[in-house]
Amino acid sequence: MELLALNSYQKIVDEICGLNWSDLTRDELMAVCCAYYFFSIQFRENLELACSLSPWDDRLARLHREECNTSNLSPYPGVAAVGEAMNHDEFMRRILGMSPLDAEIRDDVARFGAAYLADIRAIDPTTRALSISSYEDGGLERVFRAILLAPHWNDPSLRAFRHFLVEHIRFDSDAEGGHGALSRHLVPDDRIFPLWRAFRDLLLGAAPGLAS
Ligand SMILES: [Fe+2]
Ligand SMILES: [Fe+2]
Repeated sequence: MELLALNSYQKIVDEICGLNWSDLTRDELMAVCCAYYFFSIQFRENLELACSLSPWDDRLARLHREECNTSNLSPYPGVAAVGEAMNHDEFMRRILGMSPLDAEIRDDVARFGAAYLADIRAIDPTTRALSISSYEDGGLERVFRAILLAPHWNDPSLRAFRHFLVEHIRFDSDAEGGHGALSRHLVPDDRIFPLWRAFRDLLLGAAPGLAS
């Protein structure tokens, strides 16, 4: 039973990938984009925790350089100038600044997002650090490929979000210097289950149609 329980966070990844992405409306995709901003904040914080717990770790330091204060998503029209460096959550924040998402829905997602961040910040730093490889070594790549199944991207903010997703698939999956390769020595275990569960619930809160 113990063994079966190991890495059950991967079941949550499966569950997220199995949501009804291909029928997502444009408004719900915008709500997902907004929800993802909150995810991206905790991602950066978790990576900062991982680096501070292992300050000698060169691979994590390199990963940090590619996620924070970096121009690797630049340029992008309306979001980032040529060569402009920023944290990836700042890139997401700027995307939201362009989004025509209905103010009431945006407020709802911001409330879900604030509660999500509070839940994540209550988790111990080692567990938060361990989540990084579950995100970088295939987990987010699978989620991003699922999000890309959504059919409606005809809005500048959504096209910018698609740029973010497509580029991240590329960053994570390179066999040598990809983010998966840079982080997989942090071996995740089921302590990280609550982080993935909270992410799933954030997405479902933002876009309830995903469950249909
Ligand atoms: Fe990133
Ligand atoms: Fe990454």
